Formats: sequence, structure tokens, C-alpha cells
Amino acid sequence: MDPNIPNHVAVIMDGNGRWARKRALPRHAGHRSGAGAVRKIVEIAAEHGVRYLTLFAFSSENWNRPREEVSKLMGLFIESLQREIDELHRNNVRLEFIGSRDLLQPKLLDKIIAAETRTSDNTGLRLQVAVAYGGRWDIVQAARRLAGRVADGDIAAQDIDDTAFAAELELAEVPDPDLLIRTGGEQRISNFLLWNLAYAELWFCDTLWPDFGQKEFTEALAFYARRERRYGHTGDQAEAVS
Ligand code: IPE
Ligand code: IPE
Ligand code: MG
Repeated sequence: MDPNIPNHVAVIMDGNGRWARKRALPRHAGHRSGAGAVRKIVEIAAEHGVRYLTLFAFSSENWNRPREEVSKLMGLFIESLQREIDELHRNNVRLEFIGSRDLLQPKLLDKIIAAETRTSDNTGLRLQVAVAYGGRWDIVQAARRLAGRVADGDIAAQDIDDTAFAAELELAEVPDPDLLIRTGGEQRISNFLLWNLAYAELWFCDTLWPDFGQKEFTEALAFYARRERRYGHTGDQAEAVS
């Protein structure tokens, strides 16, 4: 594994609405164009040797947007999944969704489950799409599950450690992101993977998500390659292990 290439890249795909506004188009036109950028980044990431890609498509808080926007987004998720699944499968991509499934339309949920089942044995890029996902929700779910296991006598409270906790999170089977990319100019986490991003390198760009492509991704990788990851150690210690 090339240490200069992040094993896991997480992306906050932001700026669709502003992309549309600049063109005097409705917000959903920006989301539609954003779906095209998703297609591109999946290809580009795989070409560069990234093994895990996690994309923030819809947050727990995005349910509070105007009803029409939410409904158009859900429609777009269904349509995109339908359109892309054959090619993703052909390209050996394993597709999974993270987030709360409670409020998803049955039609979307069916497509999600079918896509996950169909691609579950694929050995190429592991693609996680975060829909109705919130970092706090994820942590609360994990805590609730652990509390249940303690009540059942399956685990003792004092045996709960980082590893036991992480095993209850949505990305239990996936290593932590090495690189977080956020487009659209904001420099915040917006309740994305709060636990898992503990030691991620953070890269922000002003490019709006629909315009994101090879140029920006290459820049992010170059930024990542220049970082020294110390995990709390001194620079000398970090150099000694690398
Ligand atoms: C990101 O783009 C997509 C979602 C959050 C669903 P936005 O819709 O947030 O675009 P801006 O930030 O308003 O430009
Ligand atoms: C974060 O973008 C969520 C997604 C990209 C899906 P938002 O546009 O919702 O974030 P805020 O509101 O600017 O923090
Ligand atoms: Mg936004």
C-alpha cells in the first residue's frame, strides 16, 4: 500500500444549491448536476488506488429543508441508484449505505437493500453513501446497542473500550478515513463521521460540488502526501515508524 495514497477518503459534497443559484436554476438542478460529480469521483478514486470512499449525500439535519427539495432529493437517489447500479457492479464496487433508515421511502429502501445485496461479494472499491446520516445519531445508536448488551449480560460495562465502541458504529468494518474533503468553501464537519474522523487530514476547497473533478482530487491527494501523521507522537517518533 502506497502511504501517500489515502486508504479511505470521506467527502462532504457541498455546494449544489449555490451552483444552481449562480445559473439562476432551481436547487434541484444543482443536486442533479452533483449526481454526475459522484459518478466521476467514484471512477477517479478507484483509479488512484483508494480502497474506501464514503460520501455524505444527505444529513440527519437535511430533513429540515423545504419539503419539495427533500422529496426531489429522495427521487434523485432512487433514480441515480437505478441508473448506476449495473455499472458499479460491473466495476466490482461494493456499495453500502449508512444512516438512519427509519424515515426513508420504502421504494428507496428496497433499492438500497437490493444494491447492497447484489454487490456484497465485490472486492473492488468499497463505497459507502451516507443518507439520513448524522455523526451524533451514529454515536447514540452505538451507545444504545452497547447498553442493551450490558443489560443482557453479554459484555461488562468496564470492558467497553474504543474498540468495543467502534464495533457498534455504522463503519464498524471500515478503517477510519485518512482524508476528509469538503467542497463548497465551508470549513466544518456538519455532523459527519464525528467518531471516525478523529485523525483524518482535512482538505477544503471553494469548488462547488458539481464542478469537482480530477483536478481537485489530485490537489487533495498532493496535500495528503505532504502531511506527517503523528497521532500524538513527536515528529521524530512518527518518522521512526514510517
Ligand atoms: C449539498 O449541497 C447537498 C446536500 C446537502 C443534500 P447543498 O444543497 O447544501 O448546497 P449549498 O450549500 O446550499 O450550496
Ligand atoms: C452537509 O452539507 C451535508 C451534506 C453535504 C450532505 P450542509 O449544506 O447540510 O451543511 P451546513 O448546513 O452548511 O453545515
Ligand atoms: Mg450546503
